[in-house]
Amino acid sequence: MEQRDAYQLLQWYQQMGINLAVAQEPLDRRGQVMVKPPVKSVVTSVISTDLRREVASCQTLAELRQLMMNFDGCDLKKGATQLVFSDGNPQSSLMLIGEAPGAEEDKQGRPFVGLSGQLLDRMLATIGLDRRSLYITNILPWRPPGNRQPTASEIALCLPFIEKHIALVAPRLLLFLGGVAAKTLLQTSEGIVRLRGHWQDYSNPYTAQVIPALATFHPAYLLRSPGQKALVWQDLLQVQAAAKRQLLTPDDR
Ligand code: URA
Repeated sequence: MEQRDAYQLLQWYQQMGINLAVAQEPLDRRGQVMVKPPVKSVVTSVISTDLRREVASCQTLAELRQLMMNFDGCDLKKGATQLVFSDGNPQSSLMLIGEAPGAEEDKQGRPFVGLSGQLLDRMLATIGLDRRSLYITNILPWRPPGNRQPTASEIALCLPFIEKHIALVAPRLLLFLGGVAAKTLLQTSEGIVRLRGHWQDYSNPYTAQVIPALATFHPAYLLRSPGQKALVWQDLLQVQAAAKRQLLTPDDR
């Protein structure tokens, strides 16, 4: 192979999120007999029962982080550089939740530090918020290869982590960034266009706490569709007003 071709191939690997060799030599799998995988739902539910028990025993964010670092049950971990746990102030009353780390987050180990994170920071600054005054994390703690959409089973597998994460931070307000976070945590198939802009009750399975939650568009979507920024701006003003009052009354919804 020419050096130029090899370089292009490497660049393609990098874009697709392939940064791990699973064997020394390539293996031609064409013509191999496929072994039928076990029924997925059974595997997933067995893993989640065990995982839920371990996750439930975590008393602190440090314990949860350690448990997640030791967890090998999610294949996304194999392709990721590192766990992306959170950023910001865990004492904050406002917790933001996105989808999954991208390339820059995977490199730095912090959520929302790439282009969409920079846009998010600029928008949050307009309502007087920064990483010292909010706490931020994702539904998934490992980067999906090539920034592809996380699958339903990856989300289901990692759900106990984010649920316990919310329980330990115990924020007074939640802001879901994008459809994946909103749909997962509000347990709905409703799309983000309908979900955004309305306060809803989020119920956490680890605590008795019900937290007011607002969904808005993901900043990566705003990079592609800047015309939608006005709607996110309206959502952020709602967050600002609610954060000032801390506790929402039913009239605010
Ligand atoms: N998009 C997300 O949802 N989360 C990040 O951390 C970065 C980009």
